[in-house]
Amino acid sequence: MKKILSALTILAVSFGGYASELNTEATANKGVTYIPSEAVKKSQKEFAADRFGIFIHWGIYSMFAQGEWYLNSGIREDEYCKAAKGFYPADFNADEWVKAIKGSGARYVTFTSRHHDGFSMFKTAESDYNIVDGTPFKRDVLKELSEACAKEDIKLHLYYSHLDWKRTDYPRGRTGRYNGRDSLNYNWDTYYKFMNNQLTELLTNYGPIRAIWFDGYWDHDEDSIPFDWQLDKQYEMIHTLQPSCMVANNHHVNVIPGEDIQIFERDVPGENTAGLSYQELGALPKETCQTMNGMWGYKVRDTDYKDTPTLIRLLVKCAGMGANLLLNVGPQPNGEFPEQSLSRLKEMGEWLAKYGETIYDTAGGDIQSQPWGTTTRKGDTLYVHLLSADTCDLHLPLDCKVKKAVTFDGKQDVKFTRHKDKGIVLHLLEIPDVADYIIELTTK
Ligand code: GLC
Repeated sequence: MKKILSALTILAVSFGGYASELNTEATANKGVTYIPSEAVKKSQKEFAADRFGIFIHWGIYSMFAQGEWYLNSGIREDEYCKAAKGFYPADFNADEWVKAIKGSGARYVTFTSRHHDGFSMFKTAESDYNIVDGTPFKRDVLKELSEACAKEDIKLHLYYSHLDWKRTDYPRGRTGRYNGRDSLNYNWDTYYKFMNNQLTELLTNYGPIRAIWFDGYWDHDEDSIPFDWQLDKQYEMIHTLQPSCMVANNHHVNVIPGEDIQIFERDVPGENTAGLSYQELGALPKETCQTMNGMWGYKVRDTDYKDTPTLIRLLVKCAGMGANLLLNVGPQPNGEFPEQSLSRLKEMGEWLAKYGETIYDTAGGDIQSQPWGTTTRKGDTLYVHLLSADTCDLHLPLDCKVKKAVTFDGKQDVKFTRHKDKGIVLHLLEIPDVADYIIELTTK
């Protein structure tokens, strides 16, 4: 039954109408209506225009080189945390990171301030288990990153885990169960206060934060009594501390009032190949997060990186759905980005330098997610992105009138005829073997 339901949900999501118009108005749910402030609406518009961001998963887990879930693999928490005392990422250089991010054409970065292992990658008064007080490195890497971002006008978003595999006051969920920690004496009140105090530090000490990106809500999705995360008060606190800060939550369920971005993990909105995207497509700005290899945190065995054309196509598909791509890098324990990530970032930047006009500041196009590719729109211009077309005579069932069609490169005229039923048929001379062959239509 579960399988049937899943299949039905996928169908519903794929054919449920493409609400790609950016709608920053109210979200209503269970009688609660949330209306984003003008400051948040401005961030939403800016965010949606950016289209491309870089996710960074970095913590003491990088030292084990097994990904960020290593503490959930049956090892003891009191052994794991000894890594902090040896964490000295000698080659960390925030300016170099930001240079690579900027060079990729990305316009924002989302940094893991505290992941599920409970280690804070910033100076916090709430616990010594942090990069400044708990390691010989003693540098506040988040401070350095925030300053480097400000210099280069890269917007900063912060990932924050709702769940914690170390703290004994966190009410244990379905993960992190076998690491030797006392889980009987949990205390939601002290844990909730701890999180809110840390969020206050994050939103007070590091300049403008454009979004807080939560994760871990799903840790309690198997509870017999629905778990109350008290999100409403937390979201309100964020919006009060920094009125232009957006709230995002990777909870895999429908948007909850107070959220300003809708997240999709490992899938273009409308698809569900990873089995994590059962949520309905909402009207908020959207973001798909994806790994370059298979893991978020640095994993020494995983060198199976997607090639650059695949990553470019992913970005284009997201843009076609009116969504951003948040592409992950898992820095090494020495603080540098892996070489494979650096080369891909550079190549994406080269592609965006040429074709960014068809991606940045566009809306999802009139025709989305087709086997041959997708479209993006800016004003009267519709960009047709041929990602895997196998015919030179391509039917585009458009509602609008087409006045002119040219290749994006070289602006060569492309012949087209009216289709007997609807729209036009493009008559291409060839489809070159490139990541994305773009045809520019002038419409009215
Ligand atoms: C999942 C993983 C987490 C990762 C996140 C990124 O929630 O549990 O480790 O940070 O995805 O999207």
